[in-house]
Parts: sequence; structure tokens; C-alpha cells
Amino acid sequence: MIVIQGGQPLSGSVRAAGAKNAALPAIFASLLTPEPVELLNVPCLRDVETAVELVRALGKEVVWEGGRLSIREPGPLSPRAPEELVRRMRASFLVLGPLLARLGQAQVPLPGGCAIGTRPVDLHLKGLSALGAELEVREGWVYARAPKLQGRTVYLDYPSVGATEQLLLAGALAAGETAVLNPAREPEVVDLSRLLSALGARVRWADDRVVVQGAGALSGARHAIIPDRIEAGTFLLAGAITKGEVRVEGVIPEHLAALLVKLEEAGVEVSCGEDWVSVAVRRDPQGVGVETRPYPGFPTDLQPPMVSFLSLAKGESLVTETVFEDRFGHVGELLRMGASIRRQGASLLIRGVEGLTGTRTAASDIRAGAALVLAGLAARGTTEVEGTDHIYRGYEGLVAKLRRLGAQIWEEKGNTCP
Ligand code: EPZ
Repeated sequence: MIVIQGGQPLSGSVRAAGAKNAALPAIFASLLTPEPVELLNVPCLRDVETAVELVRALGKEVVWEGGRLSIREPGPLSPRAPEELVRRMRASFLVLGPLLARLGQAQVPLPGGCAIGTRPVDLHLKGLSALGAELEVREGWVYARAPKLQGRTVYLDYPSVGATEQLLLAGALAAGETAVLNPAREPEVVDLSRLLSALGARVRWADDRVVVQGAGALSGARHAIIPDRIEAGTFLLAGAITKGEVRVEGVIPEHLAALLVKLEEAGVEVSCGEDWVSVAVRRDPQGVGVETRPYPGFPTDLQPPMVSFLSLAKGESLVTETVFEDRFGHVGELLRMGASIRRQGASLLIRGVEGLTGTRTAASDIRAGAALVLAGLAARGTTEVEGTDHIYRGYEGLVAKLRRLGAQIWEEKGNTCP
């Protein structure tokens, strides 16, 4: 559990960690090659531990020191992903493409849904079938076979991050060119494409597609993970909600453009440098309209923390979640803290209140947990946040970093990392 004594404006500077959602596909990309792969700036997170456990279970040897992963392949890989690990973390489903492309077969459990929606994988399966995979879905497992994947042009009905990554991973070893039309363009997807190019698959981005030229075999590579724009945005919102002044170092400001525009619209002072962003609140923030969209739109992963911030902004805000069908697990808990939020289908009508009051709350997923921590930082009195396992999946050293910014915050047990 995390305990927060609210009301303290945050001030100071923190450094962004490596991006969780870039590190996970990068770890799975190592399955494509027998050569050593070294990943740098890897964040210390529960989800990274799960991904390391999974590639070890498949036959890789992984040495994890600080932020560096050294991945080798002492012997043959297994085509079968352990059910417990895939069920624990949806992103594990990304091992399907690499195992199929490398071994010609793969057995991977279907990932479950989670607190933010059913999260089907139909676009992943449709795309792999188009590349020549024979897929059978039976009793919650995907049984895949493909003697040799054949590059094709695949259209994504929705610019799915996971489906785009799945097809880039498979296409890296498919014969010929794989073109993905209507791809996701999130920085984490682009980072994966850079790693695949470093491994020897040639990836190029055009205005309506991404194209990967498969290679017969791939080499090794050393790759540094990009900074985590979602962690960085969460800290900027922590500075804004507490009416303080927070600077985040080691970020790529353009990855945060949609958030920064919205914070400025709300009256927050925003400054940017080459590799840093800072916010300062010098007058009462005003409510704004926000609609989540695929990148470069406002990121869905910052919607919950943004709702916390807008709960205390003056006037009304309308927040519409267009990416997931049910990503409002944080709203009920914010209402218990005194927020004024009304759900209308995929939108929230928020009326800013004078203040929130601390109470016992529970996190339903990573970002909802972050939203509750932010609300607690601004609330009067004490806020307890249960469900910290969710939070530690996605935020490296959250409590320690917030304490460094002056927050009165404690945790029962932190996240240990090698
Ligand atoms: C990735 O999830 C991220 N996770 C999510 O971050 C992020 O919220 C999401 O992209 C959107 O940016 C990782 O990168 C590990 P999608 P992903 O496929 O790949 C539907 C976090 O907190 N869809 O772009 O699962 C889906 O149901 C996590 O760090 C299909 O219908 O997202 C959703 O409504 C949460 N069929 C929408 O597309 C499919 O085959 C976006 O999903 C695939 C997706």
C-alpha cells in the first residue's frame, strides 16, 4: 500500500526512466536472433521482470545489471510460452510473431482482458494469417505453424500498437517485404523498428505504412530504449495538480506534445529544452477538453492522471476516451475523494471542485493507480492507495521520485530490482 499526506506543492527535478512499452517488445525481439542482444536504459519494473522470465523460459539466457540486459542463446528455443506468464502480462502475446518466424511454429495462450477492456487480438491473428501462418485457436491457446512466412501487404482496421509490433517482429524474418497499412506510430513502435533495423531487417516508414524487408537471419545488436513519455507525463501532471514546479530530465519533448498543449490550454506554464520539460502553476488551472487518440494524439495512458488534474481545475472539462472501451476504473475512486465527474458513454463531464479529501482507495490498473496517487498528493488529509502491484508494473521508483520532489509519501514495500 502507498500512503500519502496531501497538500504539498511538488518542486524539483526527476529523470525519466526507459520506456516500459518500448522495453517489452525489444526484449521479445531478441527471440528473432541467436546472436547476443544488449538493451540499455531498461527500466526496473515488474513487467520487465515478467518479460525477462518469459524469454528465459523460452531458452534465452539473460543477465540483468542495473539498466542493462544482456541476452544470449545457449541452445535451442522452445516454441511454447508458459501460460502463467502470458496471463500475467498481455504484452507477452508479442512472443507469437518472433517464435513463429524463427521456429516455424508457436503455441501461445490468448491474453486475458483486463481492467480497461476486452482487448482482443484479432488484428494480430489476421495479420499473421496474411503472412501465411496457419493458426488454430483452441481452449484459450493459439497454435501457429508457418514453415516460412511470406511478406505481404496487411491493412490494420485500427492502428493497434500491439498488432503493428507483432507484424514488424514477424516480418523481420519473413521472405520479402511486409507492408503494414494504417500502422500505429507511437514512439515505442518506432523504437522497435530501429532495433529491428539494427538487427538486420530493413524497416522504413512512409506516410500511410511501415515496410519491413525480412532477412534470412538476423545479427545481434546493442540498443538503448527511449525515455518513458508516459512516466514523464505523469510527473508533469503531479507538478500541475499540486500547483508546484516540476522538471523532468532525459525526455524527448515532442513525444509529450499533446499533453503539453493541453496543460498550456489549462493555464499551466510549460517550458522545454533539448531533453527536458518543466511545468509551473502560477494561477488557478482552468478546465479543458481532452480526447484520447493514437499517437500523436493525446495518449490514453495519460487520461487517468489527466482526469485527476482536471478534477481540481476551475470550471468544466470534457474528457473522451476513444482508444479503450472502459478505461474509467479511476473515476469511482476519485468520486469517493470528492471529485465531481459524470460519465456519459465514452466521455466524462468533470466539474472542478475546491479540493479533494484523502481516503482509502484501490488501483484497478497501472494508470488508474497513478491517477489516485496524484489525487492523493493534492488532497487534504491522508490517502491510502491499495493495489500497488499494478503501479509497480509501470512506474520505476515512483515513491522515491515523488519524495525527492517533496511529496509526503510512503510505501509498505517497494519494487526490488537487480
Ligand atoms: C499498448 O497496448 C500499450 N501497452 C498500452 O499501454 C497502451 O494503452 C496502448 O498500446 C494504446 O496506446 C504496451 O505497449 C505493452 P492497442 P495494446 O493494440 O497494444 C483494440 C500501459 O498502461 N484492438 O493499440 O494492447 C484494443 O481493444 C498500457 O502501459 C483490437 O480491437 O493497444 C483497444 O481498444 C495499457 N484488436 C485498441 O485497439 C486487436 O487485435 C488499442 O489497442 C488489437 C487491439
